[in-house]
Amino acid sequence: MSKGKRPAVLFVCLGNICRSPTAEAVFRARAAAAGLDVEIDSAGTGAWHVGKSPDPRAQAAGEARGYDLSPLRARQVKAADFQRFDLILAMDEDNYEMLCLKAPGDVRERIVMMMDFAPDHPERSVPDPYYGGDDGFAHVLDMLEEASDGLIAHLSR
Ligand code: 4NP
Repeated sequence: MSKGKRPAVLFVCLGNICRSPTAEAVFRARAAAAGLDVEIDSAGTGAWHVGKSPDPRAQAAGEARGYDLSPLRARQVKAADFQRFDLILAMDEDNYEMLCLKAPGDVRERIVMMMDFAPDHPERSVPDPYYGGDDGFAHVLDMLEEASDGLIAHLSR
């Protein structure tokens, strides 16, 4: 982390309409509750949904737990992100590999799997809920709440 600046974290998935906006909203709420001053954003490796609101199922699942995803709009990861963010958190292995391909070499150590911050959880990747049922969105929330708390503990050290 660079000195004298609040940490900046970027959550990344494929479309930036399901998992990473959920991660952004969950982490924003829990970091604020923990009194952590941190810059937070999310983006997708793909461009299909740029400018769109989060998936209505992700918004509904989040709202049921008190998270507001409605102000968020999808964007694609851009070159400047690799300079701006101290930690770039990939939701799954594909996102991780795509980020490593796009990033300058010295940035790779700042690209990590989100679930590295939930070491007791059995899954290493947050599963893509886009083609599944509503229970997939609740499962994504369970995983991201656990990993967010681990990330908050890490940044608070
Ligand atoms: P996300 O989910 O990566 O969690 O936002 C997806 C959203 C859209 C698509 C795939 C995954 N898609 O193929 O359009």
